[in-house]
Amino acid sequence: MKHFIDIADFSAGDILRMLELGLKLKIEQKKGEFRPLLKNQVLAMVFQKPSLRTRVSFDMAMRTLGGDALYLSPQEIGLGKRESIADVSRVLSGYVQAVMARVFEHEHILELAKWSSVPVINGLSDYNHPCQAMADALTIFEEFGPLNGRTVSYIGDGNNVAVSLMKVVTKLGADFRIANPEGYDMPEKSVEQCRELAKLSGGSVTLMREPEAAAEGADVIYTDTWTSMGQEEEAKNREKVFPPYQVNQRIVKLAKPTVIILHCLPAHRGQEITDEVADGPHSRLFPQAENRMHAQKAILVELLLGGDPDGK
Ligand code: CP
Ligand code: NVA
Repeated sequence: MKHFIDIADFSAGDILRMLELGLKLKIEQKKGEFRPLLKNQVLAMVFQKPSLRTRVSFDMAMRTLGGDALYLSPQEIGLGKRESIADVSRVLSGYVQAVMARVFEHEHILELAKWSSVPVINGLSDYNHPCQAMADALTIFEEFGPLNGRTVSYIGDGNNVAVSLMKVVTKLGADFRIANPEGYDMPEKSVEQCRELAKLSGGSVTLMREPEAAAEGADVIYTDTWTSMGQEEEAKNREKVFPPYQVNQRIVKLAKPTVIILHCLPAHRGQEITDEVADGPHSRLFPQAENRMHAQKAILVELLLGGDPDGK
């Protein structure tokens, strides 16, 4: 049983195959060509937190491939509260062909996968956000081709989005930099894991405090919210700590002239990113959001059909 829980569970070859398939399905869709690859297949979407992109992009990914999706809100399931995760997982396995879940504790996605007899996809946990990372890699790939030797600089909180970005980037041989304030570091274990991945791929991981140093000569500058879902009580304090880490014109000017700016969204304009940058010529925020759907079509096909249907 194949699940999609962590980028590190997949080889660079698997990731590249999915990115190529995502791009192919995107090009086909732009031409008005839709293949019913997932006809009669239904994805259950379990949400413990709010969402725009994850919900709509997975729903549309299933529909454009001829399948269907069910939205299950936090109030409906009460994962682990109304019913144990093990029971929810086994019940869903009898109804649908795949489950996507957005949870607080990463353990909960692992528990769902443990009991499921259908593929489970991680739609974000407090630890990581691998579907986002696939869309990020697809967006970088579309812009620059292979990621090898590119510098991807993340400025902000060492959070779930940063962890998955670091994993995909180091798997694919790029140099990953992160500049974050003290106390908001990436999990040490993930940094160590990615340093090992980078040894195999020719990439690197560099931890920094100064956003200017991270931006210097970068191909990609990435940022995310200062306060993630579930951390709302820390928001006031974070708003005092993070302003030096804002991605603004001054930061963008330090990067390569061809730099692209990425953000997983939702954006807090005037905090981690300025309007000028989010809406400026280097921004790829909206193609990146669209790419969630195309990358996820490839993930779904990989899990449900076992790879590229054309046998590539
Ligand atoms: N980027 C992302 O996951 O957005 P949503 O929270 O809206 O799903
Ligand atoms: N780091 C953010 C990402 C939202 C898509 C959060 O977890 O809230």
